[in-house]
Amino acid sequence: MTFLTVTLNASIDRTTFINGFNINKINRSDTPIESAGGKGLNVARVLNILEKDVLATGFIGGYYGEKLKYLMEKDNIKNDFYQIKGETRFCLAIVDKKNNTLTEINENGPNISKEEFEDFLKKLKFISKGKKFIILSGSVPTSLPEDTYFQIINYLKDLNIPCILDASRKYLKKAIQSKPFLIKPNHVEAQDLLGYELNTIDNILKALNDIKNFCEMAVITYQDKGSFIYYQNNILQFIPPKVNIVNTVGSGDAFLAGLVAKLEENKDLEEIGKFATACGTANALTQRAGYLKKEDLFTIYKNVKVIKF
Ligand SMILES: Nc1ncnc2c1ncn2[C@@H]1O[C@H](COP(=O)(O)OP(=O)(O)OP(=O)(O)O)[C@@H](O)[C@H]1O
Ligand SMILES: [Mg+2]
Repeated sequence: MTFLTVTLNASIDRTTFINGFNINKINRSDTPIESAGGKGLNVARVLNILEKDVLATGFIGGYYGEKLKYLMEKDNIKNDFYQIKGETRFCLAIVDKKNNTLTEINENGPNISKEEFEDFLKKLKFISKGKKFIILSGSVPTSLPEDTYFQIINYLKDLNIPCILDASRKYLKKAIQSKPFLIKPNHVEAQDLLGYELNTIDNILKALNDIKNFCEMAVITYQDKGSFIYYQNNILQFIPPKVNIVNTVGSGDAFLAGLVAKLEENKDLEEIGKFATACGTANALTQRAGYLKKEDLFTIYKNVKVIKF
């Protein structure tokens, strides 16, 4: 197995469709969509679609944990999660087509004890052996400390496997001190990390320069403006073509899956960035988060604009 994704706060993601959502009223919904959620699982799902060999891990528990396993297996995601006493969380997204709104209710996640976390670390080290990349993505259950990603990356250091981190807020702030191989904030997360606005190209270039003190590859994604990547003394911007967006949730995860897929194939930065962009944009063409249709990739890839700085 080549890739390992770590999802600390996996969830049952249910998207329900209501035509004209009313607060304080009974709302009738159409048939919902359910999927194995959490950003690491989005990355795993897309890597799987790209025919890459990927194993998903994290914490799982209770009845929803069983359901999560069922949903992962439905997507052919190979999984080996650590079983906890608590219950896997449930996240609800309400899509209102009439008012064009998306309302999300995301649970904080289960209680994970210190013993469970320490036991998980041992399991993680064991299943990490032989992997080429470890991708750590998404939120952290509130019962775990702020330096959880920092602890995990440090604990895995002696294996010498590049760790790729997609986290935000205090978790990201702490984790960069453990010097992961790559971090991929979006522009809002990068602003929060650095404490200044990323509203000009100069500021974004400055941000990449600041971030690269902590990692070998620095990526900032910026929705339809595309992405900026620093790697091996080069900075490139990748601008996606204009497309008819359906749902951009999970575009960052699909982008990351495309990026590691091409990194592992030792492609050059231009190909890595164009393919990652194609995956991020292809995700936005589907309703499901962390999903894409392979047939969309080539057309988008051909039309990605690359700017060198
Ligand atoms: N509106 C859009 N049009 C075209 N491409 C898009 C659009 N939004 C996102 N993308 C593509 O996906 C990439 C990642 O998007 P974005 O910056 O929104 O990530 P994100 O905020 O981390 O997403 P998430 O955390 O929901 O997965 C962009 O760099 C771009 O290539
Ligand atoms: Mg993101």
